[in-house]
Formats: sequence, C-alpha cells, structure tokens
Amino acid sequence: MKVYSGLAGIPVVKSSISYIDGEKGILEYRGIPIQELVENSEFLEVAYLLVFGKLPTVNEYKKFVSDVKKHLQIDSSIINLLEKLPLNTHPMKVLQSAVPVFSAFEDVEDVLDEKHHYNALVRMLGHVPTVLASWKRISNKEDVIPPDGSLSYGENFLYMMRGEKPSKEEGDIFDKCLILHAEHTINASTFTAIVVVSTLADFYSAVSSAVGSLSGRLHGGANERVFYMLSEIKNTEDIPSIIEEKLKKKERIMGFGHRIYKTYDPRAKILKDMLKKLSTKKENSLYRIAEIFEREALKRLGSKGIHPNIDFYSGILYNMLGIPVQFYTPVFAMARIAGWTAHCKEYLKENKLFRPTQIYDGGHNIHYIPAEKRK
Ligand code: SDX
Repeated sequence: MKVYSGLAGIPVVKSSISYIDGEKGILEYRGIPIQELVENSEFLEVAYLLVFGKLPTVNEYKKFVSDVKKHLQIDSSIINLLEKLPLNTHPMKVLQSAVPVFSAFEDVEDVLDEKHHYNALVRMLGHVPTVLASWKRISNKEDVIPPDGSLSYGENFLYMMRGEKPSKEEGDIFDKCLILHAEHTINASTFTAIVVVSTLADFYSAVSSAVGSLSGRLHGGANERVFYMLSEIKNTEDIPSIIEEKLKKKERIMGFGHRIYKTYDPRAKILKDMLKKLSTKKENSLYRIAEIFEREALKRLGSKGIHPNIDFYSGILYNMLGIPVQFYTPVFAMARIAGWTAHCKEYLKENKLFRPTQIYDGGHNIHYIPAEKRK
C-alpha cells in the first residue's frame, strides 16, 4: 500500500460536468469549449448548464433568472450579522460565516431532494453578491447599496460594490470573468464540497467548507497575492532579478503553475486578451508590468511546464473594474458556487461516504505517564 500525496492523478469520481486537457490547454463545460461560452453565453446561463446538464429553454431561463434575482435581497438579520463582525475581517471569512446561515431561511428536509439543490443554488447565487457588496460597504463605513434587479447579474454586483452604475461593457467583462471561474473539475475546493456532501450534510455546509479551501494561496487565494506581487514592482528592469530571487528561495510564483495544465491555462489567455482590450482604453501600467513578468517567468519556468494560470491576470482586471483586492478571491468563490453545486448534485447520485484510509506509522501499547513524572 502507498500514500498518494495530494491524490495527484488519482480519480475519485466519474463526472460529466467539465473536461480539461492539461497538455493541449483545453477546457470544456458540459462538452462546450470555454471560448464559445465566453463569446455567446452569460454567467447565469452557464451556471444553469453546469448544474442541470443542459442549456435552458427561454422559459426555463426566465424562471431561473427571476428566482436568482428574488434572492438578491437578503434578510436584515444577515446584514445585522455582518455589522457585528470586526471591520478588518477578510471577506472570504465573512463569506464562509454567512453561507451556512442561509439554511435558516430554507427548511432543508433532505439533501437528496432535488428541490434543495435548486433552492440552495438560486439562494446562494442571489445572496452571495449582496453579502459581499454589503460587506465592502459596511467595512468601509459606507451606506449599503440595495440590489437593482433591472441590471444584469454582473452589472448589479459592480453597482452594489461601487455605488454607481457600471458601463454595459464593464458589466459584460465582469460576467465573462464569472464564466471563466465557474467550474474546473475536481480541484481542491470542489473536492472539499463533495466530501462534505458525501456525509449528507446540506449544500450550504458544503459550499461554506469549499470557500475555506479556496481561500488558501495555493488555490483561489493566489489572485490576491499576484496583485500585491506585481504592485510592488516599481521598475520593470528589476523583474528578472525579482524572479531569480524567488526561485532561489524555492518560492512558488503566484499565478503560475497548475496541477493539470502543463501549458498555458486557456482561461488566462482569455483574461489576458480582455485585459489588453480594456488597457488600450484605460491607462494600465500594471498590465505592462504583468506582460514583462510573464515573459521573464516563462523564460525560466516554461520548459518545466509552468505557465500562467487563471489567477495571474484576473486581479488586474478586477482592479480596473474598481473591485478592492481583498474581494478578488470572494469573486472567484461567487462564480464557483455553480461548479461546487453541480458536483454536489452529481456526487449524490453515487452517494458514497468519503472515508479514505491511512498507513499507520506511530507506536503501540504506550502507557500514560502522570504529569509530575514527565520530562
Ligand atoms: C487555482 O486545481 C485547479 O483546477 C485550481 C484552479 C481552479 O480553477 O479551481 O485552476 C484555480 O487554484 C489555480 C492555481 C493558483 N495557485 C497559484 O498560482 C499558486 C502558485 N502555484 C503553485 O503553488 C503550484 O503550481 C500549484 C500548487 C498550483 C500546483 O503545484 P503542484 O502540482 O502541487 O506541483 P508542486 O507544487 O509539487 O511543484 C512541482 C515542481 C516543484 O519543483 P521541484 O521542487 O520539483 O523542483 O514545480 C515547481 C515546484 O517548485 N513549481 C513552481 C511553481 N509551481 C510549481 N515553481 C515556482 N513557481 C510556481 N508557481
């Protein structure tokens, strides 16, 4: 028997939700290439596709969007909860605390009931943007902006965060970012979610646990750290030595590398193109720094199969959309609610409790020593 560290390369489920070819840099959601979805779809339609396995009819989609928008309003008790938190609480911690409370508003009879899957999905997709935007306003001592259901999902989030209506272009760009972050097979946070739901805990508990997993800097937390790393660079001439320094200290370069992709992450490519277009309209020195950083890092890491991943460019784009840096990973979580819910729903068909084993290498028949006799 051997230990499979990090379960690298070990399949733990069968799934038809998304597909990655790490050598060719391919990502498909329910068989549709990610590029086609970014080009033609919108985030809520992609969420429906991921969770229910097909693109919705016009009427199905109308009902789904209206059910999500109904949940943009959150109960005042949740706002009161937020107002009790220390103002410097990281929004990922706020999110991890708030999501389980949503279950107080839905009597979850049985997690196996498809009604719960739908109810939890529309409630979390509705509540999470409002919780995050409310937290941004409360923690900055600004007035909370109520949701505006007449705006698109992406526009409404930016409006609640910034307090002024975004342009349609900004709303569309943000919506495409959500599509890119919605799903990615069995990554660490999705695995966390299905482990939790395999005990028949509800979707709110599963998603809250997944938020905790995503917050780590080896996973979704990287996007925030990429922004800090690039923002500290004052002179592009210093970039090669900065990279050399990190590699010498065996430091992982944030936004680079991936367990599956051994070539350029297709999502990073799309984000870079969107950023390039936006940067021609708005002066953006950070994009220039990122481009040079990418070139210099690839010179040293490309041959090892280490390329930019989704987290390398996302933060610069969010910064241009006026989203504060500590909300970059929470935005990732907001989008990934679709993928987490899809996998929880799919896994319940198999419904096998996750309980791996171990190779024990400790002692046996060791006796208790009273405190006064211990060394
Ligand atoms: C996400 O899984 C998903 O799908 C996740 C995600 C999703 O959508 O859900 O795509 C989102 O989490 C993207 C990844 C964001 N994380 C980062 O950007 C953090 C920096 N990246 C690394 O920590 C790393 O690349 C991982 C964790 C992402 C993947 O690493 P692995 O597969 O566990 O490989 P490893 O850490 O064992 O590294 C193997 C070798 C090592 O060299 P040696 O010790 O063998 O000489 O590659 C090197 C590592 O040093 N390496 C890096 C590196 N990543 C790997 N060296 C420098 N910088 C890096 N970023």
